Amino acid sequence: MAFHSDDEMDLDEHAEWDSFPNVEAGPSRSGTSENMVQAYQTQYPWEGRDFDNLQSYVYPPRRPTTPSSSISEFSLHSSVEMRVFREDNGRIYQANNDDYVLPADQAEMNRLEYQHYGLKARQGDKNYLAPFPMVLQGDDKRLLDIGTGTGIWAIEMALEFPHVEVLGMDLAPVQRTEGVPDNCHFQVDDAALGLPFSDGYFDAVHARLVIIGIRNWKSLIQEVIRVTKPGGLVVFVEMDALLTMDGIPRDEQRIRAPGFTKFSDYLERAIGTRGLDVIAGGTTIPRLLSQQPILGQNRCYASLPMWPWSNDPILRKTGEIIYGDSLEIPETCRLMIVDACGLSMQEYDNLKDGFLGDLGRPGAEMTIPIWHNWAFKSL
Ligand SMILES: C[S@@+](CC[C@H](N)C(=O)[O-])C[C@H]1O[C@@H](n2cnc3c(N)ncnc32)[C@H](O)[C@@H]1O
Repeated sequence: MAFHSDDEMDLDEHAEWDSFPNVEAGPSRSGTSENMVQAYQTQYPWEGRDFDNLQSYVYPPRRPTTPSSSISEFSLHSSVEMRVFREDNGRIYQANNDDYVLPADQAEMNRLEYQHYGLKARQGDKNYLAPFPMVLQGDDKRLLDIGTGTGIWAIEMALEFPHVEVLGMDLAPVQRTEGVPDNCHFQVDDAALGLPFSDGYFDAVHARLVIIGIRNWKSLIQEVIRVTKPGGLVVFVEMDALLTMDGIPRDEQRIRAPGFTKFSDYLERAIGTRGLDVIAGGTTIPRLLSQQPILGQNRCYASLPMWPWSNDPILRKTGEIIYGDSLEIPETCRLMIVDACGLSMQEYDNLKDGFLGDLGRPGAEMTIPIWHNWAFKSL
């Protein structure tokens, strides 16, 4: 099936499209990250850390934790015995990679399902905006999903393309045991250590919302290109770390939703001080992709309303679903922010209450900034 640019537009008339290298043509964003750094320094108690040298950040000592032994929700008890999980402050985390500090327990899986269905609603009830059908037609096709999470995207792609072998890889074993079609498989691996596949093995490679587990985007993108067949498709669906209100200056955002903007500032700070890339989705990925042997690079901004504040039917439906994600975000991010920003649990509770209090506030048009980047590997 040919996939024309007009079809792409029909998929999501709300998305803002542009073609690389015009990377500055994204949505109107308030303030540069430099301005943000200044704002932090004047407003919050995280003191004059060396923001220009994030890689030198020394991790705070981790609280003593125990390997988890009582995760009744999980069917993969063998994984627990293999110590791939650890427990901290009542949540379960994967124990394979210290960089990725979001939980991997039932509550997180529920949050990721809201996120998945919210993304899908935003994309016109489709699992992609990128032209997967172009490269997944014909026999012997393979698709890789990096950081597959619950595995739901891989499963739905395997159902949509039953002739394609779909592989989902993640730091943590996929918990799902039911509803996995025969052409969908999962494996535990750390993408930050390279991709354990031969050159040109996949017809398409997809990575969605792995920003907190990737320190070196250049080597990940090089690896993704390496394992993709010439002519194959590489797709990154990624956020920038600053939760925002599209088109509204940051100062105005602070008035409309002070608890939300403060939480957002801390979130960005926590990710940045861990040496991770806070502008991966809109800037770093398209820039690094453009340096690879690729053709037809595209970038599209399709942010997710964090609650149903919009009258637009698609944005409203997306917001209704993402609301379930938004309610969980503070607990998901608790230890990452507490540890990186040096907050007490009580201070964090106050931060969380401020964020939750702004969900539903008139004028608080809170969004998760999501960028879709894709390209074909050169022939
Ligand atoms: C926010 S979740 C997104 C899950 C899924 N991609 C989705 O969009 O529903 C991020 C997932 O990426 C995985 N991940 C993060 N860093 C990774 C890495 N270096 N290698 C493999 N998986 C990673 C995490 O374990 C987690 O399951």
